[in-house]
Amino acid sequence: MTHSILFVCLGNICRSPMAEGAMRAAAEARGIDIHIDSAGTGSWHIGDPPDSRAQAAARANGVEISGQQARQISASDFDHFHHILAMDGSVLGDLALIQRPQSPAALSLFLDHLPGREGQDVADPYYGGDDGFQTVWDDVAAGAEALLDLITAR
Ligand code: 4NP
Repeated sequence: MTHSILFVCLGNICRSPMAEGAMRAAAEARGIDIHIDSAGTGSWHIGDPPDSRAQAAARANGVEISGQQARQISASDFDHFHHILAMDGSVLGDLALIQRPQSPAALSLFLDHLPGREGQDVADPYYGGDDGFQTVWDDVAAGAEALLDLITAR
């Protein structure tokens, strides 16, 4: 079975596109076939590419994410993805309200899958400086490896 994973943040222009890019690169490096996508709970940036600072941080780490386009989560995503991973606790709470009771997706906090970082948020870098984007990259790259460890251990 091909796993499918949807990463979700607020705007879908910073954290979740970086998670999508990091996960795609890490899966490709391991030769693992996974369906990967990202979305936001908000509608402000629908159709936009990732924030230029997010693109720069990804590129500095060898991954190109400029081709991504922001989209908003919909309730039907919970019928189509196996795993929906929230980048912070606030997004997790919002997603729990969007998921219909009969929808099978497993909803969780992204960093709950990274040993030692359980319960933590990937900090929103939108209103901060460039160093916040490298911190996000470090978090999503480590989380991606941890997720692949889980997937391959099954
Ligand atoms: P993201 O960052 O949720 O990591 O994509 C944000 C992007 C945009 C906004 C907030 C956070 N915004 O308010 O427009």
